[in-house]
Amino acid sequence: MTRRLDLSDIQGNVLRGFGLRRGWHQFVRIDDAAAGRAWLGELVERVSKAQDMTPSPSPSPSPARRSRRALPPSKPPKPPTGVNIALSATGLVALGLPRPLLAGFSPEFRKGMAAQAEVLGDHGSSDPGKWRSAFLRGEKNLPPALAIVSVYAEDDDRLRPLVDRLRNEVDRPGLVEVHHLPVQRPDDNREHFGFADGFAQPTVAGAPRKAQPGRATSGQLKALPAGEFLLGHRDAEYAIAPGPPGPLGRNGTYMVYRELAQDVAAFRHYLDQQAKRWDLTSTAVAAKMIGRWPNGLPLVVTPDEPDPAVTLDRNDPRLNDFGYRSDPDGTRCPLGAHIRRVNPRDGMDFGNGLDFGDRLSRRHRMIRRGMTYGPPFEEAPEQERGLAFICFVASIRRQFEFVQAQWCNDGNAFGIGVECDALIGREVPGADHGEPAKMTVPGTPARFLSPLPDVVRTAGGEYFFLPSLQGLRALAGGNPGG
Ligand code: HEM
Repeated sequence: MTRRLDLSDIQGNVLRGFGLRRGWHQFVRIDDAAAGRAWLGELVERVSKAQDMTPSPSPSPSPARRSRRALPPSKPPKPPTGVNIALSATGLVALGLPRPLLAGFSPEFRKGMAAQAEVLGDHGSSDPGKWRSAFLRGEKNLPPALAIVSVYAEDDDRLRPLVDRLRNEVDRPGLVEVHHLPVQRPDDNREHFGFADGFAQPTVAGAPRKAQPGRATSGQLKALPAGEFLLGHRDAEYAIAPGPPGPLGRNGTYMVYRELAQDVAAFRHYLDQQAKRWDLTSTAVAAKMIGRWPNGLPLVVTPDEPDPAVTLDRNDPRLNDFGYRSDPDGTRCPLGAHIRRVNPRDGMDFGNGLDFGDRLSRRHRMIRRGMTYGPPFEEAPEQERGLAFICFVASIRRQFEFVQAQWCNDGNAFGIGVECDALIGREVPGADHGEPAKMTVPGTPARFLSPLPDVVRTAGGEYFFLPSLQGLRALAGGNPGG
């Protein structure tokens, strides 16, 4: 039986995205515990709750009518604005979190993202030593004590007052604004390389959900237990994701935050080169790398170029209700394509009689809430742009780090050796492969895309914890043990 989740205690944007078009991430360093707690206390009642985003109850049908057919659920309201707050491990300590409570959090969270550079492949231009100063280690080589407050609205006019208020409140002794980043969701939902994003998201048991158009044919839309994303709940192996005792150990989630700068000129140049070499269109080369066409249609569903003029309804079942079992060799969607690596769905077949179906990939899902930053390439080519990647997980190691390290920086799991994800994969430094990693596009003829220059660079990032509402109140009240 699926237990109901306490939607008044879970922050908004986790179970269901705000869906708002503009956002602002504000990074605040906490230098003084009392100032930090006072600030948090003022903010906490403005933080969005999952219940603000719940479908309003449909009017009760008469018993006779209820028996004839179920009423369609009412459309979930889009909140006019949204506010989230999360803290890094050092940020929690700066608020006065006692060490024994900190020890309840996972080791990778406590160490911080920069310390995991080797696991994540953050070297070369992505080396943490080259990150934005806000994320650089400070005294005693510790990551800065950060809070991230994110505010969201539908347009700039509605966002501005939220940002002004936030910045005024931070302007006090003991707190320092160290970084901010305006983010957006363009009207066509395309990220800077030109691909529609945000179709594939896990469904969480006990969370309010959108009505599914028609019957699902793949296991993809099957709900995952809440414990895959929230602390204090059972996960798919019936284990409770570990967390500290008290309110911080329930209904919160880890938030992986990464600023991924995208070099659009280099990406396009590479596509043109490969297109000429392999007698494909540039769009087809890019689609092979991503696993979807720019409008979102998955290659495994439509391997041949779809009509680019077709704009898809985001509820179109072809966008997410699919698997890879019918395409074991990757002739429709390459085994090394981005979306196939980060979620191999039912395509994990080890060729040794062990067929895991989608059970394995279901343990490595993440709720993604990233938005783009920086102007479109055509408007200001010289400026930095990219993806402010955000994902929510109950285990940073099993979900985010595993996917980045084992499935994107390496191809072994898919039988493609050292090949890495063409977008975000980074070769393990020092590994002697004898040849530079390419990307194989199976087919007749097979094509081998040359190694891609670093078109995505990690410009900064941190592991944060997004507490429940009760957790935030307890932190603000100086009683985080509850
Ligand atoms: C600049 C960097 C990135 C770009 C341009 C990018 C682009 C995309 C695009 C276009 C999609 C298809 C849309 C969709 O399926 O919803 C996608 C899906 C996805 N991406 Fe990325 N991505 C980036 C970084 C990452 C990172 C760092 C991760 C995690 C390690 C990641 C994990 C995912 C996942 C889990 C999906 C959904 C796949 C599925 O369930 O089928 N992405 N990405």
